[in-house]
Amino acid sequence: MLTLNEYRTMANEEIAAIAYPKSPKGLYEPITYTMDLGGKRLRPALVLMACDAFGGDPKKALKAAVGLELFHNFTLLHDDVMDKADVRRGKPTVHRCWNENTAILSGDAMLTMASQYVAQVDAAVLPAVMELFNRTAMEVYEGQQYDMDFEVRVNVTIDEYIEMIRLKTSVLLGCACKMGALIAGAPAEKAQALYEAGVCLGLAFQLQDDVLDVWGDEATFGKAIGGDIMNNKKTFLLISAIQNANEDDEIELRRWLTDAYALRTEKVPAITALYERMGLREAAEKAIRHYNDLALEALKKAELTEEAHQSFVKFIEGLMGRKK
Ligand code: IPE
Ligand code: IPE
Ligand code: MG
Ligand code: MG
Ligand code: MG
Repeated sequence: MLTLNEYRTMANEEIAAIAYPKSPKGLYEPITYTMDLGGKRLRPALVLMACDAFGGDPKKALKAAVGLELFHNFTLLHDDVMDKADVRRGKPTVHRCWNENTAILSGDAMLTMASQYVAQVDAAVLPAVMELFNRTAMEVYEGQQYDMDFEVRVNVTIDEYIEMIRLKTSVLLGCACKMGALIAGAPAEKAQALYEAGVCLGLAFQLQDDVLDVWGDEATFGKAIGGDIMNNKKTFLLISAIQNANEDDEIELRRWLTDAYALRTEKVPAITALYERMGLREAAEKAIRHYNDLALEALKKAELTEEAHQSFVKFIEGLMGRKK
């Protein structure tokens, strides 16, 4: 097994080697801009690690790994339009640097490139890999739709939230794990167990993303703090606040949620203070630990070698308490 950083380096080298057509510049420049900004490369690293864990040659999974990173970055271009986000990875988002049409079309091109890369697996595993990839992609879109639907609903439950983040975020981490396993020719039940571990890890990951959106350090996190609050995103925090509100809290919350002209400098600190008063940061951190524990439980069912098992444990634990 290699180290996480070595899997990352492999992915980064393959990403650096992507051959983009020279023109039209307006289509390809935003793609190189995005892909060159880096990011944590968690999804390609998981593909490579999972392949390695089941005795496959990670090089055989490299194109598929890059395909998933292209897919992830495509979702970010469109997500930043949908979330009106101005900053990502510490830089202006594509729709701010260029415009919304550019973010849409360059995103579309990245989605197709993603398919082209994922399809470069051995013919023997191609149908299973494409089925997994396409199903996952559809689920991500479903999750993103729920995410938007929930912005304008107040009675969203924690269960609905968990299902929404399972779709928009977690299944892609599960897919990364399972894809690597499939490429290595792992038995179906073990590949599925690794998928479940990836999904649980993804739930913890999105919960942490929601926590960082409130309490993160903008420079480290690379995104503007308070975006979820401004968009009335039904995160674990906001749903819990609505559910636990006393009469005064309820009046205050309703006021913020219905004020379309609220200033960021007023709304974000006010809602953050409410969360803190209610102890919701601690509640979210407890939920994160819960899903991390579930990920570790599911991981055991994949029955990996001790070395491979420890690589995944390290990966999962490394994301606990992440700051970016
Ligand atoms: C951001 O994903 C989108 C979420 C699912 C929260 P990452 O936090 O993995 O983003 P990068 O690729 O490291 O920038
Ligand atoms: C990410 O959700 C889900 C997808 C991009 C599919 P967020 O909207 O929370 O992600 P960030 O915070 O913008 O990275
Ligand atoms: Mg977003
Ligand atoms: Mg979003
Ligand atoms: Mg977020």
